[in-house]
Amino acid sequence: MTRKIIIDTDPGQDDALAILLAFASPELDVLGITAVAGNVPLALTELNARKICELAGRADSKVFAGADRPLMRLLVTAEHVHGKTGLDGPDLPEPSMPLQKQHAVDFIIETLRREEAGSVTLCALGPLTNIAQVLIRAPELVPRIREIVLMGGGFFEGGNITPTAEFNIYVDPHAAQLVMQSGAPVTILPLDVTHKVLTTARRLDRFRAMGTKSGDASVALLEFFERFDEEKYGSDGGPLHDPNVIAYLLRPELYGGRLCNVTIETSNELTLGMTVADWWGVTHRPKNAFYIRDVDDEAFFDLLIERIGRLP
Ligand code: RIB
Ligand code: CA
Repeated sequence: MTRKIIIDTDPGQDDALAILLAFASPELDVLGITAVAGNVPLALTELNARKICELAGRADSKVFAGADRPLMRLLVTAEHVHGKTGLDGPDLPEPSMPLQKQHAVDFIIETLRREEAGSVTLCALGPLTNIAQVLIRAPELVPRIREIVLMGGGFFEGGNITPTAEFNIYVDPHAAQLVMQSGAPVTILPLDVTHKVLTTARRLDRFRAMGTKSGDASVALLEFFERFDEEKYGSDGGPLHDPNVIAYLLRPELYGGRLCNVTIETSNELTLGMTVADWWGVTHRPKNAFYIRDVDDEAFFDLLIERIGRLP
């Protein structure tokens, strides 16, 4: 029985690896890919999503464009990390597959209504604006969502775009708070866990050894993506964030965390976008998220490399 997923994304080199992993995994049925403004503006994130689909040999998949800005704030982008195209590194051809005409939010709503209740997982790899718009427009669909699995936030690790906030949450903190309050089952893969999976030189060599288009593109994507964090953290390799969302679906036993309350700072400018995780249960706020802190990083890369090695 395959697991039905929608990937909401702002590609982004790490988003690209997550999408490749999903397409390479027969356990997953990718119903659609919905682009959101984040790392770069929407016109680029939807284009990049189509480039990645074609790289994976999946020009048959459907890519939808969604929100071009956060619910209430002005868009903040991250070209300093991802390059001006948002997918700097490899030289991927212009896609021939079309962008779907339907708006991403309409697609997600229509899919949740059509598919069996509780069968669709929303995988959020960027700011949560599209997901929040689904919740605003069709709150009655929350019981039909199997799980929202998102990369975002950070508590013990602090932030990456401000001292206290991680980029995806910081860009649209109001959307993130709506997700946290929605009542849907939410699983969070924050910086606390993604900073434990580093694209070390030895691991990049394993991608290089594939000798495939996808392997070579992955090396180019990761070599570009990691340079910013290597310089910032002085590490061998950089954290690989988004593929953890897909790896969690495939092998949840590689991850460790606990149910706890996660609340988003949405007003104080100093800590805007902070994910306040009540890990020790010192408040009586509802335990609204499964917050992940631990991962078997070697097994994660074994999975990622084995699966991407299956692609052309
Ligand atoms: O903070 C890391 C997250 O922000 C990742 O999803 C990366 O792609 C960027 O969107
Ligand atoms: Ca992303």
